[in-house]
Amino acid sequence: MDLAALLDRIADDVTPEIGRGAVADYIPALAQADPHRFGMAVAEVDGSLHGVGDWRQPFSIQSMSKVFTLALTLAHGDDVWTRVGREPSGNPFNSLVQLENEDGIPRNPFINAGALVVTDELASHGDAAGALLTFLREESGNPGIGVDAEVATSEAGHADRNRALAYFMASYGNIRNPVPDVLAQYVRQCSIAMSCADVARSAVFLARHGLRNDGTRLLGLSAAKRINAVMLTCGTYDAAGEFAYRVGLPGKSGVGGGIVAIVPGRCAVCVWSPGLDARGNSVAGVAALDRFTTLTGWSIF
Ligand code: DON
Repeated sequence: MDLAALLDRIADDVTPEIGRGAVADYIPALAQADPHRFGMAVAEVDGSLHGVGDWRQPFSIQSMSKVFTLALTLAHGDDVWTRVGREPSGNPFNSLVQLENEDGIPRNPFINAGALVVTDELASHGDAAGALLTFLREESGNPGIGVDAEVATSEAGHADRNRALAYFMASYGNIRNPVPDVLAQYVRQCSIAMSCADVARSAVFLARHGLRNDGTRLLGLSAAKRINAVMLTCGTYDAAGEFAYRVGLPGKSGVGGGIVAIVPGRCAVCVWSPGLDARGNSVAGVAALDRFTTLTGWSIF
């Protein structure tokens, strides 16, 4: 498969979709993103890397960070699964509604409530955002990866919903560190800027069943399988059914316009275009991944 040529073709095919949707504006700094940007990168399990368009341009990874914090948390053990579920919520990513009826246990680790619990668990082992940055720099081979200070300040100033989620869960004993500390870690992880190339290389351990780029093992086979499974069922929130139907891969979106998807045994794919649909997923990004699995036949189904 000539992946470089394939990516060129996909970029052509999705041109009408680029610029559609709306950039996220509930975090004001994200509203400055140019909706006409588009990039896509594929990192194969053998280390090969291919890309098209703006694939070297850093952007705000936002909720894609939740995949990596979950992986780093599970590398310490399974304890977090007593504090967070693994069922799709069918609700928006920042919804409060299920928490009261479900004893402060979030449905899954990818909605904001669940990700706050994961970050709280990781913070019990040390500096959560620092551990995440170290991992991403090592895995991507890019020591320049860092937090976008403007996005972090903007998000920290508009975090009332996440603050409410965290304090509510703390009232059930399901946030254990001080809420302001957990929120600060969470805002930092979401504000990390990376390119499609960086994200694809950092995520390929999930295609390699837990093995990192240097051949060491981050996760056992079961933990890697479980992360992929939860990405498939919960990674695109209340659009996870539609994403499975169109793309047929484990995937995780972020409101910066990125989506990372995993083809187990083959590759990790990251696509970026800032225009979002009503559920917070990149319009051109979903279209590009739809074309990718259609043209390659590499859906998991
Ligand atoms: O907490 C938030 O709302 C953002 N930092 C991340 C949300 C997000 O990316 C949802 N994904 N589509």
